[in-house]
Amino acid sequence: MTASTTPSSGKQIRVFSGIQPSGAFTLGNYLGAIRQWVAGLDKKENFFCIVDLHTITVPQNPQDLLHRTRKMAAILIACGLDPQKCTLFIQSHVAAHAEGCWILNCVTPVGWLERMTQYKLKAQQQESVSTGLLDYPVLQAADILLYDSDEVPVGEDQKQHVELTRDIAQRFNNLYGETFVVPEPVIPKLGARIKALDDPTSKMSKSKAHIRLHAIRLADGPDEIRYVIKRAVTDPGREIVFSDAPEKAGVNNLLEIYELLTGEQRDAIETHFSGKGYGYLKQEVAEVVIEALRPIRERYLALIADPAELDRLLATGAERARAVADPKIREVKRKVGFIVTE
Ligand code: AMP
Ligand code: TRP
Repeated sequence: MTASTTPSSGKQIRVFSGIQPSGAFTLGNYLGAIRQWVAGLDKKENFFCIVDLHTITVPQNPQDLLHRTRKMAAILIACGLDPQKCTLFIQSHVAAHAEGCWILNCVTPVGWLERMTQYKLKAQQQESVSTGLLDYPVLQAADILLYDSDEVPVGEDQKQHVELTRDIAQRFNNLYGETFVVPEPVIPKLGARIKALDDPTSKMSKSKAHIRLHAIRLADGPDEIRYVIKRAVTDPGREIVFSDAPEKAGVNNLLEIYELLTGEQRDAIETHFSGKGYGYLKQEVAEVVIEALRPIRERYLALIADPAELDRLLATGAERARAVADPKIREVKRKVGFIVTE
């Protein structure tokens, strides 16, 4: 397959995205994000970062954070982010991210940060708001800009942060001369919004994945998947059709999961279920999910059983990331007037 290139430079398109090691990875993350990342592996140059520095912007239990970071790495690799084909690394392993954040802080007006929707939402939920929480989008900008990233695949909720990253890049470039590539957010087409199984009006969320009936977690085994899908909230009706009607949100969500995993056409799916009851729908969806997750779960369990190998893969990823981020941070330091010795 030929790699995509930027029209201007002929250079391969560079993709950067980040994911927090918070909560358990869900079927929603897989279908809404990671599958697209995996699909792009052979076409572009990809950097995927597990953003532990972002995670401590709200209080964390250190032991939990440690385990979740390793689990997240194992899950991402198990889902198909082959470390041979992309650079998968942990943010805190590359010091340039924190350094870059500091320098970008000094060109970012506080007002830009106070306006961020996610900050306002998260700040409301905290008893005491850390400086890090306000600064979160500047760290995200450093993540993206250090790699001269062209594209940033993210969910709709992160679009504002990528737009802020563009503003910060432009401001820095204006002040110090052309330094950063101004990146584009890439938002997946609608349709891949997987809803919570216990409340199909809200999205299935990593942060609520500890609630048993809320989500399918990617490492769940067949019995758990059957148990949770069997109890998914539907409606008192009996029609199994794709529908935007709010009362059909539960059935529609199950059908969309089925559609995304089987790749079948909607009319074929509706025909398949016509005249059947919700019990049958749930059984079928559960089996499709079990089969789709089986190889992921097997790879995940093998990876998590060998933390030394996992750490070796992550160390290699960090080395490759540093090979890009370190020269960039030196360029940035020179631009702002620091003495750079190497
Ligand atoms: P989060 O779990 O919110 O940190 O999101 C990580 C990535 O997964 C983002 O790209 C989200 O857009 C995507 N994602 C999270 N939850 C869902 C969902 N329920 N349906 C589709 N995509 C999701
Ligand atoms: N803030 C993003 C989220 O919560 C995670 C993230 C951190 C990120 N750094 C990034 C995403 C850089 C894209 C690019 O989903």
